[in-house]
Amino acid sequence: MADDVLDQLIHQHAEVSEWAHVLEQSTRAFVEAGGALDVDGAERFFRDNVHDHFLYEETRIFPAILSTKPDQAVCALIEQLRAEHIHLMEATGELFVDLAMAIAREASEAEWLGLADRTRGLVQVLLAHATLEDAQLIPYLTEHREAIQAYLASHAPLGEPVLMG
Ligand SMILES: [Fe+2]
Ligand SMILES: [Fe+2]
Repeated sequence: MADDVLDQLIHQHAEVSEWAHVLEQSTRAFVEAGGALDVDGAERFFRDNVHDHFLYEETRIFPAILSTKPDQAVCALIEQLRAEHIHLMEATGELFVDLAMAIAREASEAEWLGLADRTRGLVQVLLAHATLEDAQLIPYLTEHREAIQAYLASHAPLGEPVLMG
C-alpha cells in the first residue's frame, strides 16, 4: 500500500536481519552438531522474503526515487544497491547449491567450516546492505515522501492493470 511504503520497507529490513540470523545459526548448528540443515527451508525463506524484498525495491522503490530527479550521489547510491542485489542473489544461489551438495556428498568437517565461513561472510554483506539503505535510502524516502507516494499511486506494479477513473 502506497501509504505504508516506509513502514513496509523498515519492517522488511527487520526481516532481512532475522533471516540472516536464522541462516547463520542453522549453519553453525550443522557444523557443530552434524545436525540436519534445512537447506530447502532456508532457500524458501530467502526466496519468499529477501528475494521479494529486492524485487520490490528494484521495481517500485528505485523507479519512484528516480522520478524525483535525485542528484548524482543518490543515483550512485542506487547503482551501488542494485549491484549489491545482483551479487547477493548470485552468491546466495551458489551457496544454497553448495550446501545441498555438501549434504549429498557427506562433506568433511573442513568443508563444512568453509561453508559456514562463506555463510557468515554473505550474512555480513546482506546486513551491511540493509544498514546502508537504512542510513541513506530511508532518509531520502522520508524527505520525498509525498512525491514517492504520488508516484507509486499512479504507477501500478508491472503485471497489475491500471484501473482508470
Ligand atoms: Fe536492497
Ligand atoms: Fe532493502
